[in-house]
Amino acid sequence: MNVDLDQLRDEALAQIAAVAEASAIEQLRVDLLGKKGRVTELLKQLGAMPADQRKAFGERVNRVKESLAQALESRASAINDAELDRRLKAETLDVTLPGRGEGVGGLHPVTRTLRRIESIFNSMGFETVEGPEIEDDWHNFQALNIPESHPARAMQDTFYLLNAARLLRTHTSPVQIRTMQARKPPIRIICPGRVYRVDFDRTHSPMFHQVEGLYVAENVGLADLKHDLQKFLSLFFERDAEAMFRPSYFPFVEPGADVHMKWGDRWLELLGCGVIHPNVLNAVGIDPERYSGYAFGMGAERLAMLRYGVDDLRLFFNNDLRFLEQFR
Ligand code: FA5
Repeated sequence: MNVDLDQLRDEALAQIAAVAEASAIEQLRVDLLGKKGRVTELLKQLGAMPADQRKAFGERVNRVKESLAQALESRASAINDAELDRRLKAETLDVTLPGRGEGVGGLHPVTRTLRRIESIFNSMGFETVEGPEIEDDWHNFQALNIPESHPARAMQDTFYLLNAARLLRTHTSPVQIRTMQARKPPIRIICPGRVYRVDFDRTHSPMFHQVEGLYVAENVGLADLKHDLQKFLSLFFERDAEAMFRPSYFPFVEPGADVHMKWGDRWLELLGCGVIHPNVLNAVGIDPERYSGYAFGMGAERLAMLRYGVDDLRLFFNNDLRFLEQFR
């Protein structure tokens, strides 16, 4: 029995000294001192011993137990120290290295374009206003002389909210209505904002930006419209911009036109415009006998395409950094 105890201790100490990992130390602790450990088993034998031997044996086992516990602990802390040393060496931080760059990012090309459009019109006397992106049928269609079941609605197919009484606005023109209801002429505003349609190809995306323009006063007509748009385009493109005005139909203007500019060997439509229809002025309580006006709605992405030479409008929304970084 006594020989067993010394042998057990010496073997255990040798095992402890040989261990190199924290997890192995833990396993050894369980093997030796755990509930079913080798030393614990010895203590369990005490009960079966004659009383005169019990005390002496008990003391010896306890001494062995203590010395093993100490050996385990000091081995564990030596292993931890070594591990810490190794990590400190491997993970040193060279505080003298130069930084990795500021990575401040930049404005999205569509944002830059919107700001450019806005500042040019502001300089021409147009005030910026905004309106809601979720609209009701009356502001988006009816007040704009587009009655229910009018075929012109099909040109602007959109996303309806669940109860169908509300929709994501298909254009910024409802802001014309909201502004004319709230103010008296003369009114000269632009309204930039997001609009939505069921569209998807090289020159169309389901969400895009328009900038609405509205000028209502006495004696405002087609000549003012053409002049102001031509002036805007020349300022925007910083050259004598060759624009094609082509007759077009929108229920809320009469006459109406589309404006196109050269895009490679094609023409790209930039905007719709026209002289406000008397029915629209009547709908918002402005006397069409006394006041007249023009309005336009331009596609901001289309202007950005021309200005930056981008041949697929959807690139603006893929958020590929290789594309976006070119505009920084
Ligand atoms: C309109 O939305 C009219 N509200 C414009 C208007 C306002 C006319 C005031 C008269 C008076 P249109 O559907 O053509 O018109 O759209 C206007 C412009 O938005 C287009 O010329 C084009 O530049 C841009 N656009 C239209 N659909 C998309 C789309 N899916 N993706 C990107 N740009 C688009």
